[in-house]
Amino acid sequence: MRHLMSPLDLSVEELDNLLDLAHDIERDPKKYAHACDGLKLATCFYEPSTRTRLSFESAMLNLGGSVLGFASADSSSAAKGESVSDTIRVISCYADICAMRHPKEGAALVASQKSGIPVINAGDGGHQHPTQTLTDLLTIRSLKGQLHDMTIGLCGDLKFGRTVHSLINALIRYPGIRFVLISPPELRIPDYIREDVLRRNNIPFEEVKRLDDAIPSLDILYMTRVQRERFFNEEDYVRLKDFYILDKKKMALAKEDMYVLHPLPRVNEIAVEVDDDPRAAYFKQVQYGVYVRMALILTLLKWR
Ligand code: NCD
Repeated sequence: MRHLMSPLDLSVEELDNLLDLAHDIERDPKKYAHACDGLKLATCFYEPSTRTRLSFESAMLNLGGSVLGFASADSSSAAKGESVSDTIRVISCYADICAMRHPKEGAALVASQKSGIPVINAGDGGHQHPTQTLTDLLTIRSLKGQLHDMTIGLCGDLKFGRTVHSLINALIRYPGIRFVLISPPELRIPDYIREDVLRRNNIPFEEVKRLDDAIPSLDILYMTRVQRERFFNEEDYVRLKDFYILDKKKMALAKEDMYVLHPLPRVNEIAVEVDDDPRAAYFKQVQYGVYVRMALILTLLKWR
């Protein structure tokens, strides 16, 4: 049995196979409509979510399976003080696979150690979000035809944004990837990503403050929201929340084939006027998230 805590749990070959499977699902979804008949997915969400939870549910329903679960800590026995270890032992009796989101870093890992079913980390605090990364990789591969030899700009809250941490971990394994890390000084990527992931693997990167200067060189611009819920005080959040606003004027500085991705939800960091630009890929990305989660559920169930 395998779990998914971080993109690094998959070898590059496994990752590529998963993306190939997602692509095949996109091409011929009917072929997979009964692949999970009689199987159940539990979604255990201790933190708010729209896309991740519903895309997991949609993925399992598309495969012919069923879903059960809870959407907030308040509506589960966590409110009575139950540990995630006990909760997952119980859920293992009800379902065949589980997607878990939790505000604490490492919670899904703790759950996986006591689980009788595969556990998928659907976001653990400011740490990792591997299924958003699978979504991002499938989106980039579908739009650009490759995952190597590209300049990737990551912009916004690089400190608390778990999607950014997971995406860096995954992309460094492809040749010719260069990062431009665009953030206010207070929201730079954590030291462990800079030192242990980027520098240790000799990955070229630069850290800059101004989006205007960086945008002309990018092949992909990955925008992120300032993660209000992980700030220690509201004042800092208010000061930093509108630091970057991608608008038409900035898009005019970008390459004609530079795509804009965003894990969503968006707050103010992308002006609505950008949505009509053919390079705006963030709503397409949502659809890819369903295909890739279908591929992941199928793969983890096969590996049981
Ligand atoms: C992201 C998350 O939860 O980390 N959302 C998502 O799953 N698509 C990004 C965010 O909340 O900003």
